[in-house]
Amino acid sequence: MARLRLAVLISGRGTNLQSLIDACAETGYPAEIGLVISNDPDARGLERAARAGIPARTIDHRAFPDREAFERALDSALGEAGAGLVCLAGFMRLLTPWFVERWHNRMINIHPSLLPAFPGLDTHARALASGVRISGCTVHFVRTEMDSGPIVAQAAVPVLQGDDEARLAARVLEAEHRCLPLAVRLIGEGRVRVSGERCVIEGAGNRGAALFSPSPPGRA
Ligand code: GRF
Repeated sequence: MARLRLAVLISGRGTNLQSLIDACAETGYPAEIGLVISNDPDARGLERAARAGIPARTIDHRAFPDREAFERALDSALGEAGAGLVCLAGFMRLLTPWFVERWHNRMINIHPSLLPAFPGLDTHARALASGVRISGCTVHFVRTEMDSGPIVAQAAVPVLQGDDEARLAARVLEAEHRCLPLAVRLIGEGRVRVSGERCVIEGAGNRGAALFSPSPPGRA
């Protein structure tokens, strides 16, 4: 089967991009990265693409008169690259309904919380302030409302006593690096269908165990 062609959109350090680069290097992984786009010329993720020999472009939003013009440039770059799936991996620009509709069910985002809890920015600070004992990450298809849309995959991590933003972020990030390649794998294998704004995953299995936080006695 032909591999799913990814375009990865970034704005910064690109560790989630790196997780996809690494996954795509595995034999049998059903996707390949055709293009990396950054809206910021200084994004460190661009070096990761270069190191992996993946075509990368900067499309600097500041060079365009308005959001629409920027998005038209993005859209033509994605078209030229033959993208089948757009992955927003730390891409820090809001997208207009026009762009979101154009890539309907062909664009995913990774967000560092268990959506629908804590959409938007400052996720970890808000999770800590709320006192939740479990957080995590979500990969979802993109809809016009920020950080919403059918959920493809989630991973949960405990919030530990004494966590600060940095420690929680690092624990969630580790989960992100497994969750994003997993979601792309499922989509690449054609196992994800969107039905009534929820994802149906073929062969998702029925294994699972409760994650406790704090740990019950004897399981610390
Ligand atoms: C990640 O936490 C991702 O969930 C969020 O932005 C961050 C990007 O990190 N959307 P990186 O650039 O992939 O390292």
